[in-house]
Amino acid sequence: MAAEQVLDPSLPSCRYLLSAILAMEPSDCLLSHARVCGGGSITEQVQQFILDHCLSTHGDLHAPYLKNFLKKLITQVECDHGSVLDQFYELYAHYITSFKDDSLGKRDSRICKRISFIFRDDYSELQTCPHSRVLTFSLKCSINMLEGDTGCSIWPSSLFLSELILSHPELFSNKLCFEIGSGVGLVGLCLAHVKASEVILSDGDLSTLANMKLNLELNNLNVETDTLQRNGDTSSVKCLYLPWESASESQLQDIMPNVVLGADVIYDPVCLPHLVRVLTILLSRMNPNTKYENGELSYKCATDRSDGRCKPDNYDGCNCEPKEGPVAYIACVIRNIETFNYFLSLGDKASLDIVDLTDSLKPMNLLPYMQSYNQADIKLLRVTCRHTNQTTVTWEL
Ligand SMILES: C[S@@+](CC[C@H](N)C(=O)[O-])C[C@H]1O[C@@H](n2cnc3c(N)ncnc32)[C@H](O)[C@@H]1O
Repeated sequence: MAAEQVLDPSLPSCRYLLSAILAMEPSDCLLSHARVCGGGSITEQVQQFILDHCLSTHGDLHAPYLKNFLKKLITQVECDHGSVLDQFYELYAHYITSFKDDSLGKRDSRICKRISFIFRDDYSELQTCPHSRVLTFSLKCSINMLEGDTGCSIWPSSLFLSELILSHPELFSNKLCFEIGSGVGLVGLCLAHVKASEVILSDGDLSTLANMKLNLELNNLNVETDTLQRNGDTSSVKCLYLPWESASESQLQDIMPNVVLGADVIYDPVCLPHLVRVLTILLSRMNPNTKYENGELSYKCATDRSDGRCKPDNYDGCNCEPKEGPVAYIACVIRNIETFNYFLSLGDKASLDIVDLTDSLKPMNLLPYMQSYNQADIKLLRVTCRHTNQTTVTWEL
């Protein structure tokens, strides 16, 4: 092959193909990117690019996944009457003899997906990524979506929240950000990247929590478990075991977040009353004497805390009103409208304002190579705590 025919890996189409392989997108998605790289067909140059830049450089890719991809690629090129590079046949033969299909079906099999956020040239003014145009995180996750109470897989709403954080860093930078139901920890990695003053992640499943901690370390962040210790170290993230059912009021009040985040946490009607209770306490936390009883809030005027910790800086004197209260961003896929409406009605009863921001606060498309994820499937809600008797629930569905 002549040197001038070698594909330039910095071309967007090549970058998309590589990113899709690293993120373990379905084979059909990889084939469609490969065709774009080759101007309509999977040429020998494209195959050489896959060998040199995807398979050789990233030798730790999941073997059964690659085996399946190679099979589809070879079949496709043969169907198109193209010529398949010999190395592909050799590699495929190696996978056939070395790995059996049933290794894909193991319930506890872990894989490593690399999620790359791609900042196009016209996004370069963004402070989040001034020099590098690609930001990649490695995430251990399960091929079984139900493992770890669903928390060991990457769900689409966390991809959405991650794009939101990287697109609008000003909403999260220098703020104490607390996530509920954090799963594999991707949102936390993005929060740390945009320099949230503190990142606290939580989950109610212990195996999910263990996997999350592993992922933070894999991406060079330190993990802490003590919420009260505030050392301003933005390279560390706190991880809490926090089941919504048993989280105590004082435990939640101690967190004092500026921003609460939740991705794909509205799906189980049994958990929703507990989730709403947790949100209500977190979002009304500027008054340490706020009580949440039977779905109602009651207030007493705040006094200085006896534990020596400062009152939040948005606390406005003794009239118990926030200057700027905490806010939650909840991203979700509406899979069952009744469950979703149940969440809304519980929120209303608990004096939460729930506003649909889907059309007004859009993230940039930083995952353009992902065909398994569609921003348009996700709803973005802003949740705040009402501090008046007015009912102003805004909802557009
Ligand atoms: C569908 S997964 C979403 C995970 C992650 N946020 C994402 O979008 O990739 C739901 C997460 O919420 C957690 N979760 C579910 N019920 C919970 C509860 N009652 N208390 C605390 N966490 C819970 C699960 O362990 C899981 O990590």
